[in-house]
Amino acid sequence: DPQNHQMEDTGSLGRLNCRAKGGASGFKVAILGAAGGIGPASRLVDEDEPSRLPPPSIRRQQQLEEALTGMELVIIPAGVPRKPGMTRDDLFNINAGIVKTLCEGIAKCCPNAIVNVISNPVNSTVPIAAEVFKKAGTFDPKRLLGVTMLDVVRANTFVAEVLGLDPRDVDVPVVGGHAGVTILPLLSQVKPPCSFTPKEVDYLTDRIQNGGTEVVEAKAGAGSATLSMAYAAVKFADACLRGLRGDSGVVECAFVASQVTELPFFASKVRLGRTGVEEIHPLGLLNEYERTGLEKAKKELAASIQKGVTFIRK
Ligand code: NAD
Ligand code: LMR
Repeated sequence: DPQNHQMEDTGSLGRLNCRAKGGASGFKVAILGAAGGIGPASRLVDEDEPSRLPPPSIRRQQQLEEALTGMELVIIPAGVPRKPGMTRDDLFNINAGIVKTLCEGIAKCCPNAIVNVISNPVNSTVPIAAEVFKKAGTFDPKRLLGVTMLDVVRANTFVAEVLGLDPRDVDVPVVGGHAGVTILPLLSQVKPPCSFTPKEVDYLTDRIQNGGTEVVEAKAGAGSATLSMAYAAVKFADACLRGLRGDSGVVECAFVASQVTELPFFASKVRLGRTGVEEIHPLGLLNEYERTGLEKAKKELAASIQKGVTFIRK
């Protein structure tokens, strides 16, 4: 983010120095899956990347370990994207294994790094990451975050359109998870305070929950959202780094190990600090529409979380 950080490719594979403007300390950030649609701004580790070294799996393993050693923040957009007609869960069979392998590398090479999981289905890949870390004895719930920032970016954009405001002046909490009905915008808590007609609530909820599918269909087989996700990923990574730097009042929505509901993971507003997630905000007052949405979200989320846990424990 040019406004807040000077980012420089150090030339060494998988490493990016991210120096807070005016701050003395730098942060080491790795992006895994960086040659894909989301990551090209910082091409780092990617299994399809041509190399001077002989290819197969040993090189990939060395490359991964070299990229991860000493990292303080690891961002994971590695994996396949959707095509029209697919749900995010349809990506599970391929992406679950990819996230598992990468998290095993993180547990070995940078167990204290903050991890931002972008790879879908986030509702399952975050529990997968947690199980891998638990197995390795390195799990710290404060350091594992599923990236739901794109839902917030979309929600702010669509709500701003309806209100006739600049999206930068709008704050919509989006809780739950990152797929269909699990994406739950809390329109009763929008800042600045405002009200919507029932028709607007239906329109906005549907548009926010299906924003990803809208892009997948528009791209007609060429993948899913990339530029908007790259924007959201940088915005979220920047928030994590500002937290690590010790800035106060850094609050964003993320899918984390949580006790705000009976589920083991849930997305809600979290305060980021030097140790990662330092506080998880409660959901606040929900209206009847949101309470109904929450029940639907929890049902689907429970199954997706269990699927991820079972994948590692089986
Ligand atoms: P892409 O296919 O363009 O890029 C993915 C990259 O990952 C490819 O270059 C691939 O070679 C690489 N890769 C695969 N396995 C790897 C491994 N083991 N190690 C390192 N790299 C590996 O896809 P994309 O558009 O960049 O999307 C990537 C993922 O992000 C998808 O699962 C997509 O659904 C997800 N996504 C999530 C959000 C979100 O809001 N959380 C938003 C957009 C996309
Ligand atoms: C999104 O919300 O754009 C991503 O999760 C990608 C997708 O498959 O929709």
